[in-house]
Amino acid sequence: MTVTIVGSQLGDEGKGGIVDLYGDDVDVVARYQGGDNAGHTVVHEGETYKLSLVPSGAIRGKVGVLGNGCVVNPRTLFDELDTLQERGLDPDVRIAERAHIIFPFHRVLDGIEEKVKSESDSEVGTTGRGIGPTYEDKAGRRGIRAGDLRNPDVLRERLEYIVPQKRAVVEDVYGVAVEDLDDPDALDVDALYEEFREYGERFEAEDMMVNAGVFLSDAIAEGQNVMLEGAQGTTIDIDHGNYPYVTSSNPTAGGATTGTGLNPGVVGGGDVIGIVKAYLTRVGSGPLPTELGGVVGDTPGYEEQGEGENEALATRIREEGGEYGTVTGRPRRVAWLDMPMLRHAARVSGFTGLAINHLDVLAGLDEVKVGDTYTLDGEEQHTVPATTEEWGRCKAQYRTFDGWPEFDPATVASEGYEALPENARDYIEYIEAELDTPAYALGVGPGRSETVVRERPY
Ligand code: GDP
Ligand code: IMO
Ligand code: MG
Repeated sequence: MTVTIVGSQLGDEGKGGIVDLYGDDVDVVARYQGGDNAGHTVVHEGETYKLSLVPSGAIRGKVGVLGNGCVVNPRTLFDELDTLQERGLDPDVRIAERAHIIFPFHRVLDGIEEKVKSESDSEVGTTGRGIGPTYEDKAGRRGIRAGDLRNPDVLRERLEYIVPQKRAVVEDVYGVAVEDLDDPDALDVDALYEEFREYGERFEAEDMMVNAGVFLSDAIAEGQNVMLEGAQGTTIDIDHGNYPYVTSSNPTAGGATTGTGLNPGVVGGGDVIGIVKAYLTRVGSGPLPTELGGVVGDTPGYEEQGEGENEALATRIREEGGEYGTVTGRPRRVAWLDMPMLRHAARVSGFTGLAINHLDVLAGLDEVKVGDTYTLDGEEQHTVPATTEEWGRCKAQYRTFDGWPEFDPATVASEGYEALPENARDYIEYIEAELDTPAYALGVGPGRSETVVRERPY
């Protein structure tokens, strides 16, 4: 059977930790979308691992699969694998033959487009990893897939088609001279051919390439447990997020089927767990109705929403929660929990369970607020409007909870749910009731043992 892990907010909800939490019962962990824009943290035996591409199960020796819905940069994949090996692990990672490859020119284009957009304050604040340009080429039917790397003739033919186009875009559309780039080889067919042919050979030599749908279906038929690890989150989903301030893939549960080759019946037959941060963070641009205190320059084009004057509280939560981007190190914007966003996420993905993390970070506050609904043009809204312009004008209507005192995470985790402070339980029960979904796990610290586990999905 499968268990699917979905970010219910804007990414960084603690997905990696929950994959790890349930990891003992799992045989295979498959990522279904995204690429090295992700940064998933696993804390194991006092060691912290920040993973961008390697599925989080690899830390515990599980087979990892990068599904066909992923975009894979072989440079960063092999760097990450080498680093993990240096740390004494032996990750077994497979890559779908149908996964698209991120080339150096995709990163170049990501950077140039963001720079051009920033001139009109409309940059997305991407991670700069070339994610959008690679998915563009996938949809434009000119991308190069992992399976193409092992056939040198096909690779060269595809590069000879695509690279001159990219060169023309860089030079003629954006007016940037290729020889002035930090890495002019990013647009050189011969250099790309040599480097990426070798990656193809390495994928082959290390027996890494698989037909993901077949591989995963066979595993399930043999009775193995499969975890589908989403990256990013619902509000940055290309379809269901706040377009254009989104990533270019589907982190929602539908992406788990298209991005692995497992049919919807298989994914829907298992649990779909929505990962919730007990407050909210965002890296990059776009509206944030419950924002506490912004990060200068990250909300282009929008009037300040939320309680922007609460800079001190935002800073406290940012520091307590270590809210700095795993991939880019950028400070994360901080906001109160946003229930319209969570109602939207629960509907889109059909959560059967929740994991609510970071309850410890809010401990010690006098009161904890939640954006319960919005008002837009005088009307009450229970869910997120479809246009980002409207979402940018939503005013959060708050519900205030009494705060809860600091507690010892280890004691609470070992004694169980009833050991959580009563006000924290009230907060959790409000979220469960609003989403009509039980909380399977409650995070009270970054470590695996700092979690109250109420339900094991396998
Ligand atoms: P992901 O991208 O969803 O996997 O999340 P990240 O790894 O980017 O960010 C989550 C951060 O919060 C990591 O540093 C985790 O170790 C940490 N974390 C996860 N759950 C908890 C929790 O319940 N409490 C605290 N204090 N930290 C947590
Ligand atoms: P994990 O898996 C948080 C954000 C970027 C930017 C937007 C588009 O760790 O939760 P992209 O580089 O994907 O084109 O950037 O999406 N973003 C994330 N924010 N967590 C992530 O991943 C993210 N991956 C991308 O900051 O706003
Ligand atoms: Mg992250």
